[in-house]
Amino acid sequence: MKNVVISGTGLYRPPHIITNAELVESFNAYVALQNDKNAVRIAAGEVEALVPSSVEFIEKASGIKQRYVIDKAGVLDPRRMRPHFEPRSDDQLSLMAEIAVDAANKALAAAGLRGSDIDGVLCAAANMQRAYPAMACEIQQAVGAGGYGFDMNVACSSATFAIEQAVNAIRGGSARRILVVNPEITSAHLEWRDRDCHFIFGDVCTAIILEAEDEATAADRWRILGTRLVTQFSNHIRNNAGFLNRCEDTDPDARDKTFRQEGRKVFKEVVPMAAHFIEEHLASLGFAPKQVRRYWLHQANLGMNQLVIRKLVGGEVGPEIAPLILDEYANTASAGSIIAFHHHHADMLAGDLGVICSFGAGYSVGSVVVQRL
Ligand SMILES: CC(C)(COP(=O)(O)OP(=O)(O)OC[C@H]1O[C@@H](n2cnc3c(N)ncnc32)[C@H](O)[C@@H]1OP(=O)(O)O)[C@@H](O)C(=O)NCCC(=O)NCCS
Repeated sequence: MKNVVISGTGLYRPPHIITNAELVESFNAYVALQNDKNAVRIAAGEVEALVPSSVEFIEKASGIKQRYVIDKAGVLDPRRMRPHFEPRSDDQLSLMAEIAVDAANKALAAAGLRGSDIDGVLCAAANMQRAYPAMACEIQQAVGAGGYGFDMNVACSSATFAIEQAVNAIRGGSARRILVVNPEITSAHLEWRDRDCHFIFGDVCTAIILEAEDEATAADRWRILGTRLVTQFSNHIRNNAGFLNRCEDTDPDARDKTFRQEGRKVFKEVVPMAAHFIEEHLASLGFAPKQVRRYWLHQANLGMNQLVIRKLVGGEVGPEIAPLILDEYANTASAGSIIAFHHHHADMLAGDLGVICSFGAGYSVGSVVVQRL
């Protein structure tokens, strides 16, 4: 069977940083405004007072120190608490496509390719900007690619699931070179008014080029030794926004129409699932976890990643084995493990093994075992 390689990655990083201190200051201003507005009802016991957030909690519970966002002013405005994006006409490039094209062009340059060399585009992300036409078709046209494009969503595992689709398409002969993009505008699905989760997400876009090994010319090539995916239904990470909402006559701004989670349960259930899954995947390829030089894990929670690695290889967990990017980027949904790979692979040697692994809503877990050529 044909070998498939990752021959380039690219990253779009939004222009604005929100530090935890800035985030907490605006959240606490929102809390004060709300509590002031509801003072009489709070005093009468009809409404519960909102509770302020804290930088110390956020850093201790998650490891997140800041996040990048496309719009900062809207998020930090205590009277708004969500980004503001200018609507665009149908003949303008969509926002998701714009950040995808930026990341895609960087990945193409890294792979030494042009857009016209690509004959398959997968737009894989936790949220799509519209129902149709597929974002992937717009991105395909904007980068000058041929072939076909389609959108896919497996929440935080969208990128790894897309890598498997790309590998299968190249092996099966339906495409020669595939561009996977992960435009994650998570600031638009995050409930910035909810203390339990307002610190979790950041915006970003990653891009990955996959091609047949015998055609790839980039100096930096990663043979894909195996991919494995699993899903198991859970309501513990959920967002009910969807096209039926307007027919249900429910409030489009209701709490269930943005990201919700039972963080503790997710932590407890996903850690053993991911660790076991990676171990089994490696075993099926004849490897033990300790033979892997680097794990580029999903970036949702520092403690979660430390536990996954400890279960796999024991001992101290340092950035050499499991690099962390969530302190800088926060949780960027499906892009997290790809950002970790993008920033932390240059020092690896030919023959070194690595695992890209995502875990998230679904639940879904995807692992990609790679070897540097
Ligand atoms: C979300 C997460 C960081 C929360 O951390 P946690 O330790 O589980 O925190 P909890 O929600 O249990 O809250 C602990 C306490 O901190 C408080 N707290 C919650 N948010 C707070 C905030 N922003 N500031 C201060 N205190 C806060 C809670 O009220 C609670 O107080 P109590 O003990 O008096 O009841 C963590 O559960 C997590 O990351 N889980 C995995 C999530 C994940 O991977 N999701 C995938 C998404 S794609």
